[in-house]
Amino acid sequence: MAQILVLLHLALFFLSYFPAHVGSQTSFPSQIAPLAIRSPYFNCWNNVAPGKAHNWPGFWNQQGLGWVGHIRVDGQVYEWLGGGDPTFNFTTQLDLQVTPTRTIYSLQAGPHMGLNITFLTPIESDPVKQSLPFIYVYLDAHSLDGLPHDVQVYVDITAEWSSGNRSANVTWKSTKTDTSTYHQVKLQSPTPLTELADQAEDTTTYIAMRSGPSMSFTVAPEESSRSGFAAGALPNPVLETSGAINNPVWAFAIAVDLGNITQTAQSVVWSLGIVRNPTVAYRTSTGSVVDRAPYFVVQYSDVESAIDAFLLDSDDARQRAVALDTQILGDSSNTSVTCSSLVSIAARQTLGATELTVANGTDGKWNTSDVMMFMKDVGNSGYVRDIQIIAQVLTVSIEVGSTQWKRSMRLFRFSST
Ligand SMILES: *[C@@H]1O[C@H](CO)[C@@H](O)[C@H](O)[C@H]1NC(C)=O
Ligand SMILES: *[C@@H]1O[C@H](CO)[C@@H](O)[C@H](O)[C@H]1NC(C)=O
Ligand SMILES: *[C@@H]1O[C@H](CO)[C@@H](O)[C@H](O)[C@H]1NC(C)=O
Ligand SMILES: *[C@@H]1O[C@H](CO)[C@@H](O)[C@H](O)[C@H]1NC(C)=O
Ligand SMILES: *[C@@H]1O[C@H](CO)[C@@H](O)[C@H](O)[C@H]1NC(C)=O
Ligand SMILES: *[C@@H]1O[C@H](CO)[C@@H](O)[C@H](O)[C@H]1NC(C)=O
Ligand SMILES: *[C@@H]1O[C@H](CO)[C@@H](O)[C@H](O)[C@H]1NC(C)=O
Ligand SMILES: *[C@@H]1O[C@H](CO)[C@@H](O)[C@H](O)[C@H]1NC(C)=O
Repeated sequence: MAQILVLLHLALFFLSYFPAHVGSQTSFPSQIAPLAIRSPYFNCWNNVAPGKAHNWPGFWNQQGLGWVGHIRVDGQVYEWLGGGDPTFNFTTQLDLQVTPTRTIYSLQAGPHMGLNITFLTPIESDPVKQSLPFIYVYLDAHSLDGLPHDVQVYVDITAEWSSGNRSANVTWKSTKTDTSTYHQVKLQSPTPLTELADQAEDTTTYIAMRSGPSMSFTVAPEESSRSGFAAGALPNPVLETSGAINNPVWAFAIAVDLGNITQTAQSVVWSLGIVRNPTVAYRTSTGSVVDRAPYFVVQYSDVESAIDAFLLDSDDARQRAVALDTQILGDSSNTSVTCSSLVSIAARQTLGATELTVANGTDGKWNTSDVMMFMKDVGNSGYVRDIQIIAQVLTVSIEVGSTQWKRSMRLFRFSST
């Protein structure tokens, strides 16, 4: 996976041609910030229009994706992520930092509670970790007046992540083990290796958290899930296990009661994921078509064990991310603030357009000598385009082996060392 670092260094090299001016790293200049940029089909941005406090997070093509974060402080609810629901108060944004791997909001929830929310899209040198299609959301809260306050926190997603067709039907399932608690949701009738409105029609979406005594979870229509949390307890999960994405809009929620605290002793961590398997149908030079799986299958035979490992790794993953950010921003900070910002967004954007895959060997085992990464052209329109052009320039410059096109995918072959 040295190639990934090569790619980042090429990004720095390329960006060094931008007009530079001296400055120090400061807050991110834009309100539009990456939240979850893990693959071409797991590509979510915070899409806050100028002058508007909140707006629905969106897919790279700006189609809205239901994703809500609430905090309840002494019985009063504040929205820190979501579409700006007037039923609730909003947090005040104090600062926004975007690094190569992280987007960090510093917020205030009412007069007494400070809040840091960190959206972490890992960039890993270990190919198994790099191919895990999950991201972290860390929440850290601290009292501003030194007194304890009664705090509960909440995140939900809707099934809009599951299809480009908002009236399609989905099925879902909730699981709680000693290690993890998660909801999974997918199309009732998925279509393999097919897109609709840029979204994949063959995904399983996950929202997960490590199991704990003060955690609760539900599946319910979105209003009832959020108003239940506001009133002090999530509603019981519905008995149904399927329904239309948008009628009603189902919410898949996980909440934690932190009790009376002056600050969170450790971060509250949610994870979101979008899993596809097979990832791609690849036409070989002999003309046969071979399905390829996400690379993490070489270590985790099922998604459940991958989720457990990902959640248990949340502290170490953040440390690795901070180290990588420091290295990349250290390399680029001498050019300009704009350059640091571009590098920050380019790293995630570039790797977030890729998928790392492995194929079955002739012996029926995963062939770790047959590893390929695919890059999809996300951004023929909309706000990701400019960075994507940079990514395309990079792709051209680092292509190894033969170039082949399949649909709009550009292929380059990896050695597995
Ligand atoms: C927002 O907060 C203010 C002040 O705490 C409170 O009076 C108001 O009712 C809240 N609004 C909503 C919609 O909760
Ligand atoms: C939140 O972020 C601010 C600014 O980076 C930092 O000073 C503060 O210590 C953080 N608080 C917590 C609880 O992590
Ligand atoms: C969307 O889903 C609905 C309900 O299943 C179906 O009737 C409609 O044809 C679908 N639209 C597309 C574009 O697939
Ligand atoms: C979609 O789900 C609804 C509600 O469960 C059901 O009435 C309808 O028949 C389903 N439609 C399809 C195409 O399966
Ligand atoms: C937190 O403090 C409030 C007010 O002192 C009290 O009513 C509430 O029961 C406490 N909650 C917990 C979980 O201890
Ligand atoms: C790999 O082989 C296994 C066992 O034969 C099979 O279940 C799986 O679908 C294959 N995966 C791909 C991506 O071809
Ligand atoms: C940054 O610039 C300063 C002053 O020009 C120089 O001394 C320093 O070595 C540079 N650092 C890096 C990492 O290039
Ligand atoms: C694994 O892949 C390599 C590279 O494509 C190939 O040379 C080798 O024959 C494959 N091994 C098996 C067991 O399929």
